[in-house]
Amino acid sequence: MDRYAVMGNPIAHSKSPMIHHLFAEQTNQTLSYEAILVEIDNFNQAVTDFSDNNGKGLNITVPFKQDAWQLASQRTARAELAGAVNTLSWINGQWHGDNTDGVGLMHDLIHNHNIMLRDKRVLILGAGGAVRGILSPLISEQPKSVVIANRTVTKAETLASLFSDTGNVSASAYQDLSEPFDLVINGTAASLQGELPPVPEHCISETTDCYDMMYASDPTPFMHWAGKLGASKCMDGLGMLVEQAAESFFIWRQVRPQTQSVIKTVRQKLLSP
Ligand code: ATR
Repeated sequence: MDRYAVMGNPIAHSKSPMIHHLFAEQTNQTLSYEAILVEIDNFNQAVTDFSDNNGKGLNITVPFKQDAWQLASQRTARAELAGAVNTLSWINGQWHGDNTDGVGLMHDLIHNHNIMLRDKRVLILGAGGAVRGILSPLISEQPKSVVIANRTVTKAETLASLFSDTGNVSASAYQDLSEPFDLVINGTAASLQGELPPVPEHCISETTDCYDMMYASDPTPFMHWAGKLGASKCMDGLGMLVEQAAESFFIWRQVRPQTQSVIKTVRQKLLSP
């Protein structure tokens, strides 16, 4: 049986095995998918052991996405731009690397939430690996402008200059943000710590859509805050998680699973584990 897995540290609470089992069932594919906890300094060995044991594909999560980028012999253009790999495929004795995070977010916004990016003013909070991973697919949707705000402004500036050839991308300090945006995407790790990035309230109006790339059983602090300010929509990143998984599944199996029912099932499981 073809073997697949997600590798990360920690990994115990990963939803990826559930999601891929649901995809496999739905598309009548015979495969196995497990979660593998990898010690911090043992990533390359773990991946080699996996391919030696009939492993065909891997999802890679925190903190190994950059290691996976290094390890891949071939990389897609979007993985190259993301500087990180979340999907590895074992093809003709080599690991091929891709990054499906950005396209996963775009699918969730466009197809599940009916939010079009064209000509929109977009604010992105954070300038870490998670944000770098989404910039190229987001800019491809031709927003009017993309502003990256971060506590450490130099990191936002570095990211903005990396992508400035491809669209109207700029960096800002939080306190310098002066007007409402059409879409605000929280790509910081703040929600993980139960915190809120220091975004000025005037960035949100009643026509602002807000998206947190994190998810939890309850609305995240960012969603809660945006909701209280009257934002048009407040969304979490569960749909992005399922959509990036669907893209990985498609890369491995050349079959595209339906995601709506899987998002529903994972949401239910999150609410009553
Ligand atoms: P990831 O790969 O998940 O993006 P990362 O590279 O460590 O992780 O980046 C974390 C991002 O969240 C950074 O933009 C960080 O801001 P700084 O670069 O200024 O540290 C941001 N971040 C983390 N905690 C935050 C908080 N409580 N408020 C605002 N931003 C936060």
